Formats: sequence, C-alpha cells, structure tokens
Amino acid sequence: AFDISNLRDQTGYVTLDRGYKNTGATKSAITFLDGEEGILRYRGYSIEELASKASFLEVAYLLIYGELPTKEQFTQFESAIRSHTMVNEDMRKIFDGFPVNAHPMCVLASLVSAMSGFYPESYEGNGDENLDIVRLMAKLPTIATWSYKRSQGHPLNYPKNKLGYIENFLQMMFALPVEDYTVDPVVAEALNILLILHADHEQNCSTSTVRLVGSSQANLYASISAGISALWGPLHGGANQEVIEMLEEIKAGGGDVAKYVDMAKNAKTTGFRLFGFGHRVYKNFDPRAKIIKKAADDVLSKLGVNDPVLEIAKGLEEAALNDEYFVSRKLYPNVDFYSGIIYRALGIPTNMFTVMFAIGRLPGWIAQWKEMRETKEPIGRPRQIYTGSTLREFVPMENR
Ligand code: ACO
Repeated sequence: AFDISNLRDQTGYVTLDRGYKNTGATKSAITFLDGEEGILRYRGYSIEELASKASFLEVAYLLIYGELPTKEQFTQFESAIRSHTMVNEDMRKIFDGFPVNAHPMCVLASLVSAMSGFYPESYEGNGDENLDIVRLMAKLPTIATWSYKRSQGHPLNYPKNKLGYIENFLQMMFALPVEDYTVDPVVAEALNILLILHADHEQNCSTSTVRLVGSSQANLYASISAGISALWGPLHGGANQEVIEMLEEIKAGGGDVAKYVDMAKNAKTTGFRLFGFGHRVYKNFDPRAKIIKKAADDVLSKLGVNDPVLEIAKGLEEAALNDEYFVSRKLYPNVDFYSGIIYRALGIPTNMFTVMFAIGRLPGWIAQWKEMRETKEPIGRPRQIYTGSTLREFVPMENR
C-alpha cells in the first residue's frame, strides 16, 4: 500500500515524480505539443507547414525571437551568422588533443564548453547575449565537421561564407581540396527539413538540462554544452545512432523483424528495447516521424539510393504496430526511427547522427535558455525523499 508518510521530509510534504512524468517545471510560450493528438507547433506555427515552407534559419529566428523574421531581420541575422563561422585557431589545439576515435558528441560538448573560455564576457556579465547566440549558431556546424574530417584523414575545411547555412555545413563536411564540390539541392533540402523537425521539443531531457544549468546563471555556452551531453544518451538523441545499428544487425541476421519485436516485448527480461519506438509525451503518433518517413522515401528515390535498411525499418514498424504489446502501450515510431536512414543516404556517418540532432536542436535550446532568463525563473532545485540510514555513530577504522 502507498504510504504517504514516505513523502514527508524535515520541512513538510514533497511531490515525488520520478522522471518528472507529470510535473511541469515552467511556463513557456515557445513550443506547443499535444501528445494525445500528435500536434507540434513552434510559436503557434504547425510543424508540417514550417517543414514544407520555411528555412532552418528562419525557424531558428522564430524560436529564438518569437516571430517570423521580416526580410530585413532575416538578412541581418543570416549575415551576422555568416560572419562568425570561423573558429578560433586555439580551439583547434584543444581539438587536436582528442584521440582520433573520440565520439563526435564528446568533442562537440567539450568544444562548446571551451567557447566560454574564448568569450569570457559571457560569464563576466558584460557580454552581448545576441552575439553569443550568433557565435553558437555560426560555429557549431564548423566544429561539428571537424571530427568527421579527421576520422577520414582529411584536412579540415574552412567555412565559405558565400554559401548558405546548410550548404556551408555540407561543404565543410564533404568538399575535398582536390576536386570541385557542388551542393546537391536534394541533399540540402532534406537536411533543411530534418533540422527544422529537430529544432525544439519543449521540456525534453536536454532542454530541461539547458534550463537547469542556466537557472544557476551559468553562461550560455556552459548551458548548451550540458544540453549536448544530455542529448547524447541512447534514450534521447543518441537513439538515432542506436536505430541504424539495430536495423543493420537485423539485416545481417537475415531480416527477421519478428524476432526483434519478440525481444522488445520481453524488455523486462531481455533488457532490449526497440530503439526509435515510444515517447514520453506522444501517445498517438509522433508528427515528426510521419514527415520523416515520407521524406526518407522521397530522398532515397531522388538520390537513387536503394537502402535495404529502409525496407527493414518499414517491416519492423508494421510488425510492431500490429502487436498487442506495442498497441496497448501506445508505442509508435518517434523522430529518431527514420532520420538515420536519411542521414545515411546523405553520406553522413552513423556516429555523426546525434551531432546532426544537436545542430538542429541548438535554436530550441537557445530559445528556452533565453526565455528562462527573461522570465526570471528561480534556480532549479528538485527535492528528494531520503531513503538512507537514520543517525549512526561514527566507527573508527580500526574497529570496522
Ligand atoms: N521497446 C519496448 N518496450 C518499450 C519501449 C521500446 N522502445 N519503450 C517503452 N517500452 C515499454 C516499457 O518497457 C514500459 O512497459 P511496462 O508498461 O510493461 O512497464 C512501457 O513501454 C512504458 O515505458 P517507459 O520507459 O515507462 O516510458 P518513458 O516515457 O519513461 O520512456 C522512452 C520513453 C525513453 C522514449 C522509451 O519509450 C524508450 O526507451 N524508447 C527507446 C529509445 C528511444 O527511441 N528514444 C528516443 C526518444 S525521442 C527523442 O528523445 C528525440
């Protein structure tokens, strides 16, 4: 039986809600999400409309500043970002100290944290918040490409600021000094959609982390770095890497999707979950997954890529959605289920998938951090129910 006295601590009763399944931590005007109906809106605009009509930078501006930019506002924002894409050469020295096989997420979190050291006004209190925002938006894609370039044994590419945000990222990732590189518009468009779909998702694990760290008045770089670390976990953004690894494993084993559905049904004993399935809030479907599934079909056919993993993913989805275990628990494919298939078709390696998520989520983290500051949220400090020993007497070491 539930004993309410367990919820009492020295100062009165506290609410115990492990994993914050039903606890609102803040009010927010940024993202509306209805998990029952499968609705997602940024600042009131539907995700479906934004993904089909807007550019990623427009959406970033919308999230951060609250309104869609006018032409003039957009030009200003974009050109400010263009002029800050270079990364201090001393950051390269930090990067060069990492082992070549260090996971790109650990490199990204570390270098973003290091940025505060290069811009000390961010923590000395005399900085310009908009400049920090621009620097982060501009430099994250540059830093993100470094790990990949080095893993290939290639020289790092400098940004080319005549290119747009997404084109510049693709150029830094894929251009080789020995040949001309032109951006395929199909690739740029697919990436634009993916980044928009990832741009914000209210109080998820990484965003709550950004807010919690920022609530102590830690600077923007430190807060975003913490968010990147939170995103890395396989139950959150790291799931996109896990999904492809799982689908590859199914393919290598002969494509037996039923076996994996069975294993996942016994998650309690096997410890195995279907990555890319289930969501804390969506209990109907994840609207982002719907858009991504269609985009995966479009992109692969436009690029002429025939990836058997897409068929395995569809087979797995069908098998799960016809299974009582998944139906009764309302477990549907989430945003991570099909995104990796598109990233692969674009030539992005598996260990960079979560980095792509971070590039997409950056404006959301910034917007939430900014809102948290502007609404003067108090420092975040959850309570606990103590379950340890009652008072004990110290025993000297020789008597233990
Ligand atoms: N495979 C098998 N069973 C699952 C799965 C899954 N992917 N997800 C949830 N379940 C089961 C649980 O075992 C539990 O079963 P029970 O009722 O018999 O105990 C029930 O469904 C509820 O699951 P919880 O873990 O309590 O749900 P929660 O809201 O805490 O977790 C989460 C949500 C973390 C997304 C979970 O569904 C999961 O681990 N999914 C796989 C990882 C993944 O894809 N993460 C990406 C999420 S989207 C994002 O972060 C961008």
